[in-house]
Amino acid sequence: MSDQPRGYSYGARELAPSPVSRKALHLLEETVLWSEEDRRWLRRAGDLLVPQTEAILDVWYGFVGSLGQLVETFAGADGAPDAAYLGAVRGRFGRWIEDLCVRDWDQAWLDQQHEIALRHTRLKKNSTDGVHSASVEVPMRYLITLIVPISVTVEPFLRAAAAADDDVPAMMAAWFKAVTLTVALWTEPYAAGW
Ligand code: HEM
Repeated sequence: MSDQPRGYSYGARELAPSPVSRKALHLLEETVLWSEEDRRWLRRAGDLLVPQTEAILDVWYGFVGSLGQLVETFAGADGAPDAAYLGAVRGRFGRWIEDLCVRDWDQAWLDQQHEIALRHTRLKKNSTDGVHSASVEVPMRYLITLIVPISVTVEPFLRAAAAADDDVPAMMAAWFKAVTLTVALWTEPYAAGW
């Protein structure tokens, strides 16, 4: 694992336990058609994507920066995008790629998903980086819709690094399922009736 970005909390003792049970996680896995084959291809996708993390983040940050409804969540007190805030989150966003692909989806992973979820909501947004932002919560509807760009944009990175016997569509399917499942977990603190 690479160096720890500031504010990165995977495995930290002070993390609140996820309210999502292992059983509930399993039911979500079933619902996204998760399989052992996907686990294998997601790990392989991690091998290919992690070394390209900075270039992938450039694409994602370019996308977020190009849409007012997304970049406004990174506004500072003056309403303009806060470069320090964007930069601080970027390091942790990069580690999320590695954590998603490589980690076992155990209790520590579930607790980390809960922490990331809280950091998108009014319960914890802005607090990790001490930001004074007019945006107090990332709207859940954008969390869900960002699944599409976060999914489709990795394909060129997989293709660029794939070996002859790699199955890029299988890696894409595994990545898409994994991103969808994590965003489903992240809706928990937003949603009554989760
Ligand atoms: C598939 C969807 C998304 C993924 C995978 C994702 C991923 C992440 C990750 C990994 C972090 C860092 C969490 C940490 O502190 O460890 C983060 C933070 C953040 N994300 Fe997202 N995100 C998604 C959707 C969105 C959307 C749609 C927006 C904006 C409209 C957004 C805005 C933010 C902001 C503002 C933070 C910083 C929160 C804070 O103050 O701590 N995210 N995101």
